[in-house]
Amino acid sequence: MDMRMIREKLAEAGQAHLLQFWGELSEAEQTELYLQLQSMDFQELSSFFQNAMKVSGHIKEEKIDEKMEPVPREALGSVTRDRDMLKEWEEEGLLHISQNKVAVLLLAGGQGTRLGVSYPKGIYDVGLPSHKTLFQIQAERILKLERLAEERHKVKSTIPWYIMASGRTMESSKEFFAQRNYFGLKKENVVFFQQGMLPAMDFNGKLILEEKGKLSMAPDGNGGLYRALGAHKIVDNMESRGIKYIHVYCVDNILVKVADPTFIGFCVKKGADCGAKVVEKTNPIEPVGVICKVDGKYQVVEYSEISLATAEKRSSDGRLMFSGGNIANHFFTLSFLKDVVQIHEPQLQHHVAQKKIQHVDSQGQLIKPDKPNGIKMEKFVFDIFQFAKTFVVYEALREDEFSPLKNADSQDGKDNPTTARHALMSLHHRWVLTAGGHFVDENGTKIPAIPSSRNGPSGTVTPDLNQNLKDVTDLPIKCEISPLVSYAGEGLEKMVSGQVFHSPLVIDETGIHQLVKNGL
Ligand code: UD1
Repeated sequence: MDMRMIREKLAEAGQAHLLQFWGELSEAEQTELYLQLQSMDFQELSSFFQNAMKVSGHIKEEKIDEKMEPVPREALGSVTRDRDMLKEWEEEGLLHISQNKVAVLLLAGGQGTRLGVSYPKGIYDVGLPSHKTLFQIQAERILKLERLAEERHKVKSTIPWYIMASGRTMESSKEFFAQRNYFGLKKENVVFFQQGMLPAMDFNGKLILEEKGKLSMAPDGNGGLYRALGAHKIVDNMESRGIKYIHVYCVDNILVKVADPTFIGFCVKKGADCGAKVVEKTNPIEPVGVICKVDGKYQVVEYSEISLATAEKRSSDGRLMFSGGNIANHFFTLSFLKDVVQIHEPQLQHHVAQKKIQHVDSQGQLIKPDKPNGIKMEKFVFDIFQFAKTFVVYEALREDEFSPLKNADSQDGKDNPTTARHALMSLHHRWVLTAGGHFVDENGTKIPAIPSSRNGPSGTVTPDLNQNLKDVTDLPIKCEISPLVSYAGEGLEKMVSGQVFHSPLVIDETGIHQLVKNGL
């Protein structure tokens, strides 16, 4: 396509302003802009814009409240209410892992805007004694789980790791893995693929120039996964490896049980093609989306879409009626994923987020707006629940499985490096106690198993984050156990039972370390 054709294409699409500064650009800048424009399908973009605006206007007018129904008990599995089933589900999951039927898929294309770092979140060091990054923690959990499946079934097990990155995170993520030798995983079992990007637009659908020769672009949301899976033939790759079940999760949850055998076993036993892990929302105003049925189909309803009266509704057992807080941990069978990629993906609508988008104005001046001046369009990973034939929900404990890293420490004290670090160390502290170890303070006095009266039963931090955030940040015990030693608290008795420890304590493959320097 030559420049004349590009000009025509832009004029037809009402986007001629994008070449306004063409004459001022260097040759290299011209080439870059040419490549960006040449690859764009303006007709498709215009239809995305029209639909997204229609849907977002429609959602605002529509009252979703009246249509919401809770998840029925038969579709629900719970770590607390189905204790007697957990072992069976775990066994089922481990069996499938040992047969190399399970893969994990990491969503790591986000820009980490709220955390405020320019590099991928997976590279973030939250300040654990080991200074392991989120990527390393996840890699080691995969390795450990492969070993556990191997021990159990006496066959070599592999859990391939598919990592979706974006134009913003791909190169640095790949480089990080290569420099660290894939954290002990085989390179061929770590498969990176790239999600798409979409241009930002003003409220009239005009594309925005971030610089005179550069469009403002952003990743197309974590639901961009489905298009990317098709475009990069990832589903074929999974099929050729004999994968049947996929665990999809977010990069930012430091407690994530990657390829959790219990969750996978539960979903498989229930005959589900799609499943989601949730944590209980205990406070009606907590800002998380909830999983429920709307018009008979499963979906995530965002907190902003429901009234307080609905959010406060309780069931006969006193729990919130809509209590399944989405933590972006999903289960798919490969055949479901194939249908989504091949059939349903084009039906998924983009969500519209109004944003302050930096741009150059018609005079070529750089403008940093103080109120939203345009939109970004994103698809969401959970928007495919509606296509499931058998959908199930698995309720896990927040303090065991969910502590996301969203914000920088300087912000509002929630979901930041400190809360993430403390959540992990609190969990590991509890593992040591459960395995029969205990901690003493600097005077040799035994530290009680329940560190604070504000904490919940059995020494755990109760799940109401708003109420108990202070407990998490006050946590006195610094304890870190390498995922290579224990995936979920198993196997620690022989190391810690009857032992007395000082904080900080680190347990890794080389043994038990009592750190002398308390630098946390
Ligand atoms: C997400 C969930 C929300 C859940 C919360 C829990 C979605 C759409 N929302 O919200 O329901 O309560 O996590 O922590 O899933 N990502 C990409 N590509 C993108 C955008 C994001 O791969 O274009 C990845 C991120 O790297 C991250 C994950 O998706 O791993 C979640 O993205 P984020 O923007 O942090 O989602 P939240 O708004 O926090």
